Amino acid sequence: MSLLDNARAVRENAHARYSGFKVGAALRAASGRVYVGCNVENAAYPEGTCAETGAIAAMVAAGETELTEVAIIAEGLEPISPCGGCRQRLAEFGGPDTLVIMATLDGQQRSARLGDLLPGAFVASSIVKG
Ligand code: THU
Repeated sequence: MSLLDNARAVRENAHARYSGFKVGAALRAASGRVYVGCNVENAAYPEGTCAETGAIAAMVAAGETELTEVAIIAEGLEPISPCGGCRQRLAEFGGPDTLVIMATLDGQQRSARLGDLLPGAFVASSIVKG
């Protein structure tokens, strides 16, 4: 199954009862293994989490900390971009060249490099301890 098909499948499990907007995400890690996540909303709205955040948590829980490719899918007029917070979370484990594939349910697709989605990212090497 392609990375995008993994994202499409997990999207079905999204808990999006407040926004009605289901999102699925799939990450390919350095090992080649795929980790998936969906958005999980909450009655206390700010406690909801994005699909990408769930997939990252699954990857890290499995012992991996390097991702090479990301796929995100949602229904809409055009492919959605990861939100600002998720761009930062992806940058923790990916690099500027990490491929981000964005798609709609009806087959529209675009892709971008993480470095173009979050130029000048604040990352581990930015922290210099005095
Ligand atoms: N959402 C994601 O899961 N990923 C994104 O990159 C953008 C937004 C979710 C959060 C919320 O559950 C719903 O989409 C509407 O914002």
